[in-house]
Amino acid sequence: MVDIIAIDGPASAGKSSIAKKISNYFNIPLLNSGRLYRAVAYKIINKKININDKYEILTIAKSLKNDDLKSIKLFSSEIDKVSSQISAKKYLRDQLKEYQIEFPKKYGKGKKFAIVEGRDIGTEIFPLAKFKFFMWANAGTRAHRRYNQIIKSGKKASLARIYDEIVSRDREDINRKIAPLKPAVNSVLLDTTYLDIEQAFNVIKKTLSN
Ligand code: DC
Repeated sequence: MVDIIAIDGPASAGKSSIAKKISNYFNIPLLNSGRLYRAVAYKIINKKININDKYEILTIAKSLKNDDLKSIKLFSSEIDKVSSQISAKKYLRDQLKEYQIEFPKKYGKGKKFAIVEGRDIGTEIFPLAKFKFFMWANAGTRAHRRYNQIIKSGKKASLARIYDEIVSRDREDINRKIAPLKPAVNSVLLDTTYLDIEQAFNVIKKTLSN
């Protein structure tokens, strides 16, 4: 099987930017696992499904396609919130695990690595991943990053609100009983509070070359 690079960490720690850079640099497939939860949340909202309707939620999760993960509509504060809520459901995590396990088998053929980023990749999904990174940054720094991203895209944003949302999502991700956000025991810790994306990328590149 292809070697897995697992990147975990909280919202806006820079995981997806770094993962994209690694994916481009090594020409390897990338799965942003948060998009699975977001795509399910998107359909729940659109179809006005009750958040406790296990049958409907599982039906959506089972029928997820790669294209569902590509939509830019997956990024809104409503989806941030609903995806975080549904991510606490064990039956959903189990179902989405199947998608994640299949990913490197499907897309990693002939590649040096496959890269998967999320919250529980190194702990639950690929505990035997060859490389594990846990990216962190303090909540204030992450809120600033998110704020700048939104402003850059021409939209309005409130820094105070973004900060509150980040703190509350951290709380939910860290405290949920199933697959909580935590560093895998054998992961490389990368605090990006004072590192820019280039510096973090260089650390990862070096680790992968060893
Ligand atoms: O990484 P993200 O912000 O796109 O993730 C969206 C939500 O999905 C986030 O609140 C936590 C959840 N998630 C998860 O529980 N496990 C993962 N492996 C990835 C994301």
